[in-house]
Amino acid sequence: MKYLLEARDVSVHYGEIAALTGLSLQVSPGEAVALVGANGAGKTTLIKAIIGLLRLKRGELLFDGQDVRAVTAHRRARMGIGYSPEGRRVFPGLSVRENLEVASFAATSQTRRLIDQMYAIFPALKETRKASLGWTLSGGQQQMLAVCRALMSQPRLLLLDEPSLGLSPKLTDEVLWRIPEIAKTGTAIILAEQNLTKALEVTDRAYVLRVGSIVLEGPSGDLGSNPSVRNSFLGGLPRG
Ligand SMILES: Nc1ncnc2c1ncn2[C@@H]1O[C@H](COP(=O)(O)OP(=O)(O)O)[C@@H](O)[C@H]1O
Ligand SMILES: [Mg+2]
Repeated sequence: MKYLLEARDVSVHYGEIAALTGLSLQVSPGEAVALVGANGAGKTTLIKAIIGLLRLKRGELLFDGQDVRAVTAHRRARMGIGYSPEGRRVFPGLSVRENLEVASFAATSQTRRLIDQMYAIFPALKETRKASLGWTLSGGQQQMLAVCRALMSQPRLLLLDEPSLGLSPKLTDEVLWRIPEIAKTGTAIILAEQNLTKALEVTDRAYVLRVGSIVLEGPSGDLGSNPSVRNSFLGGLPRG
């Protein structure tokens, strides 16, 4: 079985300070994987290393079997690595439709089709689309739009950095419950979350990250019923 993404013994440093140490992780095509850990555990660092914004100090990173350590971030995006950053980044002065259009790599007719697919995934976006500018959207709608912007490039691997941050439990559900649906279309997902319970509910497998290392991994269902999982969050309190 060939993995879509494979990190082997990866270390990432900020100057002298190690943020990730000897981390290994695999993601198969179409698989939804949770990366859970407290604030400061290294989730964003790993995502930035995968998309090519941070260099590896040690280890290997393979995407679709290819060593991507020397591949620039924009080329990794073209290869099929999509990214939705922390903090619901959308263009505040653009409408929903414009936000989606500028995120597309595809031709016009296909872009139109893709936008319709986004409205099918998140009907709440369609209701707002005509006049609403990004800044007038609710937090939940902005997060949905941020996820859709990443999906507009039709990634094979979608990286979501804490999409539940700052959202109410109800809106968190509305966003996170689309994850299995997106994975079913063949897009693999890495979901970085502090919200342990919810992340385990919507993923196939999970990695628990603590101070830059994986301390537990396994099927999400098994980890959800494993009492040591919560303890492995030590160093910060998990939400959820
Ligand atoms: N730009 C940076 N410079 C130095 N240290 C950083 C920087 N960004 C993050 N860190 C440190 O790296 C560790 C992991 O951070 P991060 O990846 O943001 O964790 P998470 O996303 O899980 O909250 C933390 O100790 C954090 O303080
Ligand atoms: Mg983070």
